[in-house]
Amino acid sequence: MFDKSNDIELKDFLLIRDLIEARSGIRVRDSRKDYLGYRVRERMSATGIVDFEEYYFFLKYSSGDAGEFQLLMNLVTVQETCFYRNTDQLRSFQDIILRGIVDRKKAEGSNHIKVWSAASSTGEEALTLAMIINETLDFPNAWRVEILGTDISTRAVDLCRKGIYPKERFDNLPKDKLAKYFDVVEGGYRAKRILSDMISFEHFNLIKDIDSVRVPRLKNMDVIFCRNVFIYFPQETQQAIASKFLELLVPEGHLLLGNAESVDIRKVPFIMTFLPGGMIYQKV
Ligand SMILES: C[S@@+](CC[C@H](N)C(=O)[O-])C[C@H]1O[C@@H](n2cnc3c(N)ncnc32)[C@H](O)[C@@H]1O
Repeated sequence: MFDKSNDIELKDFLLIRDLIEARSGIRVRDSRKDYLGYRVRERMSATGIVDFEEYYFFLKYSSGDAGEFQLLMNLVTVQETCFYRNTDQLRSFQDIILRGIVDRKKAEGSNHIKVWSAASSTGEEALTLAMIINETLDFPNAWRVEILGTDISTRAVDLCRKGIYPKERFDNLPKDKLAKYFDVVEGGYRAKRILSDMISFEHFNLIKDIDSVRVPRLKNMDVIFCRNVFIYFPQETQQAIASKFLELLVPEGHLLLGNAESVDIRKVPFIMTFLPGGMIYQKV
C-alpha cells in the first residue's frame, strides 16, 4: 500500500497512462493507479514541480535519454529477470533451434549467428544466451556470434554495460559455470570476455525504434527472444511488434516469447510449434 498523499486523481492517472502507452506500448493497469501515482509524485518532488498539470506538460514535451519521460520510464518499468529463466525453453532453444541453426549455417558456408534479446532488462538473458551458444558450438572461436541486448530503460542498459552482478543473482547458475564464465570483481561478478565479446547492449524502444531502415543491424536475426514484455502491451501492439519481428528474422528464423505470451498466427503468419518450455514461432 502507498501513502494516501501519493494518490493521483483518476483524470491525471488517465493522462499519464495514455502518454506512457502511446510512447512505450506499456498499458498501466487500473490496479496500478496508486503505484503510478507514487512514482509520479517521486518525480515531481525530484523536479521541484508541485502542480500536476505543469508536470504533465513537462513530461509530455521532454525528450532524450536524460529527459523526464525517460526518467519516469526508468521507474515504472519492471526489470524482473534472472540467469537461465525458463530452463525448459532454453533447453529447447539449445537442443533444437540452435543445433538446427548451426547445421544450416554450416551447409550455407556461413559462420555468423545473430540473436536479439529484445527486452534484455539488466542483461542476464543475453549473458545466458552467450553461455548456451558457447557450450553448443564445437569451435566457438571459429564463429562470429552477435547478441544484441536492448531495453527501453536506460537505467537497465547502464547496468548491463557495467556488467557487475551481486552474488545472489547467480542462485540459478551451476557453480562450474560461474567459475568458467565470470570473474570476481569488487561488488560481485563480471562476465569474462568470452561472453561479453559476443554481446552489445543498447537503449531501444520496441514501439519507436523498431525500423530496420533506421537500424540496419536489426536485419537478418536468426533468433529473437522477446520474453516477458508482451504481457505489458495491448493485443494490437503485440501483433504490430510481432509483424516487425517477422520482417527482421532470416527465413526459418525463430521468435521465443515468455510463457504467458503468444502471437495470433492468423494475423502474423508464423508457424507455431509446441516444444518443452512453451511455444516457438518460426518464419517460413
Ligand atoms: C520483466 S523484464 C523481462 C526481461 C527478460 N526478457 C526476461 O524474460 O527475463 C521486461 C523488460 O521489458 C522492458 N520494456 C518494456 N517496454 C519496452 C519497450 N517498449 N521497448 C523495450 N523494452 C521494453 C522493461 O524495461 C523491462 O526491462
